Amino acid sequence: MIKNDLFLKALRGETVSRPPVWMMRQAGRYLPEFMAIRDKYDFFTRCQTPELASEITVQPIRRFGMDAAILFSDILVVPQAMGIEVQMRSDVGPYLPHPIRTEKDVDAVQLPEVDQALDYVLKAIHMTLEKLEGEVPLIGFAGSPWTIMCYCVQGQGSKSFDKAKAFCFSRPETAHRLLQKITETTIAYLQAKVRAGVNAVQIFDSWGGMLSAPDYSEFSWAYIQQIVDALKPLTEVIVFGKGCWFALGEMAQSGASAIGVDWTCSARNARYLTGGKVTLQGNLDPARLLSPPNVIRELVTQMINEFGKDRYIANLGHGILPNVPLDHANAFINAVKQYKE
Ligand code: CP3
Repeated sequence: MIKNDLFLKALRGETVSRPPVWMMRQAGRYLPEFMAIRDKYDFFTRCQTPELASEITVQPIRRFGMDAAILFSDILVVPQAMGIEVQMRSDVGPYLPHPIRTEKDVDAVQLPEVDQALDYVLKAIHMTLEKLEGEVPLIGFAGSPWTIMCYCVQGQGSKSFDKAKAFCFSRPETAHRLLQKITETTIAYLQAKVRAGVNAVQIFDSWGGMLSAPDYSEFSWAYIQQIVDALKPLTEVIVFGKGCWFALGEMAQSGASAIGVDWTCSARNARYLTGGKVTLQGNLDPARLLSPPNVIRELVTQMINEFGKDRYIANLGHGILPNVPLDHANAFINAVKQYKE
């Protein structure tokens, strides 16, 4: 039993007194109590130590009281479990020293037993659930197969992911084989997370907006749909695609409980493109949390008025920025909590 079930109600499309609120990437980055842990342990140690991951997960809940927690981890633990080396470098971010470029590289990618390879994530979920004591739901997540492939092929972050796109367009069959391997692992991983106790899962398609609409259908959406189909009978599924407004219609038909919207798409257009029935999540420009708190409060009220209080989850349009002052994050959360029609 979950004491505050506003988030789950919104996912099920039920009427609520006010919308639920959480912030993408709320665990980490801008929190001083997170920085204290970051100073002591490197990134993947934090991910792989259930005591640390669960602690970082509940930090923002204790401080701000969001309506949902998101497990501290990373989308790149999945390629790691598939035998691909992933490092986190302070200067470049994610770095994969042996990127996937050939047929043989794809052959070598493993399909792991996720319960073993990612047991530390499942343990972190158990520990987090104990710490949350049923206060709020816990969200588990994974990257979309396309977004994971972007890192696997490119070898690091990129403004264009040109090597990942070149791989898809010059060797489509090989690319599809890799995407299918990532999809199967992701499905098994998310199913294990649900068994471990998460109340919802979110798929982050952070780099979906790199693709044209038809290429998106072929190289990203087809695989996300497989994940939605496999998880939908077990839990609530949220799909967030950054820069993917053109796919909102397809997403709304997918059976997902909610669709994430980034800040480049108006609430009105998002409602129109999704047919007005599915729950939407978003979409304040993360940089807007740099505005003064009174402006943030006004923007939040406007945002809720535009999306409507029901079938809506207040959030940012992408992850919170590291330089956001704490009282600004607090103003965002409280403005949603104090919303009156
Ligand atoms: O939402 C949360 O607070 C839970 C934790 C979470 C992290 N990564 C922790 C993290 C989540 C949901 C992610 C997802 C993730 N990771 C995405 C998809 C979401 C998005 O923002 O688009 C992507 C693309 C990644 C890959 C990744 N991991 C990058 C590009 C970076 C470096 C730059 C950055 O975002 O800070 C990371 C590292 C990372 N993952 C950090 C954190 C807190 C920062 C590094 C550190 O703490 O040492």
